[in-house]
Amino acid sequence: MSLSISKILTMTPSDEVVSVNGWVRTKRSSKNVSFVALNDGSTIRNLQLVVDTEKGYEGVTEEVMTQVTTGASISASGKLVASQGSGQAVELLCEKITVIGIADPDEYPLQPKKHSLEFLREIGHLRFRTNVFGAILRVRHALTFAIHKFFNDRGFFNIHTPIITGSDCEGAGEMFRVTTLPDQNPPLTDDGHVDFSKDFFGKATNLTVSGQLEAELAATALSKVYTFGPTFRAENSNTSRHLAEFWMIEPEVAFADIKDNMDLAEEFLKYLIGYALENCVDDMEFLSKRYAEEEKLKPQAERDEMSLIEKLEFVRKNSFERVTYTQAIEILMNCPMNKKKKFQYPVERWGIDLQSEHERYLVEKHFKKPVIVTDYPKECKAFYMRANTDGKTVAAMDILVPGVGEIIGGSQREERYEQLKQRAEEFKIPQESIWWYLDIRKFGSVVHSGFGLGFERLLMFVTGMGNVRDVSPFPRTPKTAEF
Ligand code: 4AD
Ligand code: MG
Repeated sequence: MSLSISKILTMTPSDEVVSVNGWVRTKRSSKNVSFVALNDGSTIRNLQLVVDTEKGYEGVTEEVMTQVTTGASISASGKLVASQGSGQAVELLCEKITVIGIADPDEYPLQPKKHSLEFLREIGHLRFRTNVFGAILRVRHALTFAIHKFFNDRGFFNIHTPIITGSDCEGAGEMFRVTTLPDQNPPLTDDGHVDFSKDFFGKATNLTVSGQLEAELAATALSKVYTFGPTFRAENSNTSRHLAEFWMIEPEVAFADIKDNMDLAEEFLKYLIGYALENCVDDMEFLSKRYAEEEKLKPQAERDEMSLIEKLEFVRKNSFERVTYTQAIEILMNCPMNKKKKFQYPVERWGIDLQSEHERYLVEKHFKKPVIVTDYPKECKAFYMRANTDGKTVAAMDILVPGVGEIIGGSQREERYEQLKQRAEEFKIPQESIWWYLDIRKFGSVVHSGFGLGFERLLMFVTGMGNVRDVSPFPRTPKTAEF
C-alpha cells in the first residue's frame, strides 16, 4: 500500500518496503547516486528518495532516471533508512521507481527556483504545486474545518442560504444577473425594458451578495445560525483586497445585541488564528519565513517589526481595541498624516465614509492591534442596522486588522417593524421585494445581531499574503475568470 508523505515522515527506519506516489520537485545527481525531493501535497515537506543505480535494484535504471525530472509524477518503493543529510529524519532508499507521467523539462514552467506571485497567477493551473500555494490551500482547508467546528461546538446550526436571489436588499454592491433570456432580442415590456416576467424565475434574479437576510429568518427560529458560502459582487474595484467571488461566514444570533456580537466576533477570530497556529505548524512556519523575506524588501518605515507568527500570537492574546466611529474620526482628524495632508481622502468632518487608508492608519499606526469600530453614521451603512437613540448613528461594527483593513462587517439588526419599514423607504427598497424580511418583525420579533467575515480576507491575515488573488484557488476579478 502506498502511504502519504506526511505519514511516512513520522515513521522510523525499518526493513518493511513502503511505496509512495508524488511529484518530483528537484533531482540532484552525483556519480551514480541521485537524490529526488518528492512531494505529494499532504505536507509542505518533501520525502528524499535516494536512488543508487549501482546497488543492483532491478527497478531503478539509468533510463528511468532520465525521466525523473521536476514536475514528473512517479511512484517509488523501498525501505526507510535514517537520513544522512540534515532536514529530515528518514529517507527512502529506492528499490523501484516508476514514472507515471513525464514533464518535459523544456516545457514545464515551474522550475526549482522562486517564481513571482504574478507569474504564478498566469499559470494558475500549476501553481497548486508550489510550496506557497500548497501551504495556503492546506491552511484554507484547516480554517474551513475550524469555522464549522467553532460554531458546531457552540450550538450554532449551519444554514444554506440561496445563491440565486430575487432581491438586492443588502445594497452591498453591484450584482451579477442570472438569466436564461436570449441575448439577442429578449422580450421587452411596453416601455422598452427587458421583460423579466418572461425570465426563468418570472422576475429578475441575481447572484447573492450576502446570505444575511435569509440567515436572519433562520435565526428567529433556531436562535443561533451561520452561513458559509460563496458571495458575488460585481464592483469594478481592482484592488488587492476585492474579489468578484468570495466566501463569507455570516453568523446570526437571536437575543444578542451589538456587545454580544463584538464578543462573538473577537472570540471567533482568535479561535481561528489559534487553530491555524496549532494545526498548520509547518505551513505557518514556511509562510512566516516568506512574510519576513517580503517585509525585508520594504522600506524600513513600512516594515512589520513582528514576524507573522509573532503578530498572530499577539492578536490572539490581546483584546481588540473598541472605539466608536466618532472617536475614530477624532483620532484621524488630529493625526499627523491628516495634518500633513498625506491621506488621499482628507478627514475633514464627521460623517465621511472611512476609506481603507484611514482604517489601516487606525490599526497599523495608531492602535497597532485589531480595532472594532462601532456606531457609524446611518448614512454610511445598510438599511437594516438598528438605529441608535442619538438619531444619527446605527449599531454597526466593523473589525479592522493590520495589513488587511476591514475583515468583518456586522451590526445589531433593526428589530422594530415601523423603524425598519421607514428605513427601507428611505433607501427606496420596494416593499414587495422584502415583505418577508419585514414580516419577521411582526411576529415574535427579537433583538438579534450578526456579522460577516470575508474568508479570503481572513486568509490574507493568517497567511500574511498581500493579495487576495493569492489566497483563492480560482480568483475571479474584473477581466479574469481563467481556469
Ligand atoms: O461588510 P460586508 O459588505 O457585510 C455584509 O455583507 C453583511 N451582510 C454581513 C453581515 O452582517 N452578515 O461584507 C462582510 C465582509 C467584509 O468585512 C470583508 O471581509 C468581506 O466580507 N468582503 C469582501 N472580501 C473580498 N472581496 C470583496 N469584494 C469583499 N467585499 C466584502
Ligand atoms: Mg463592510
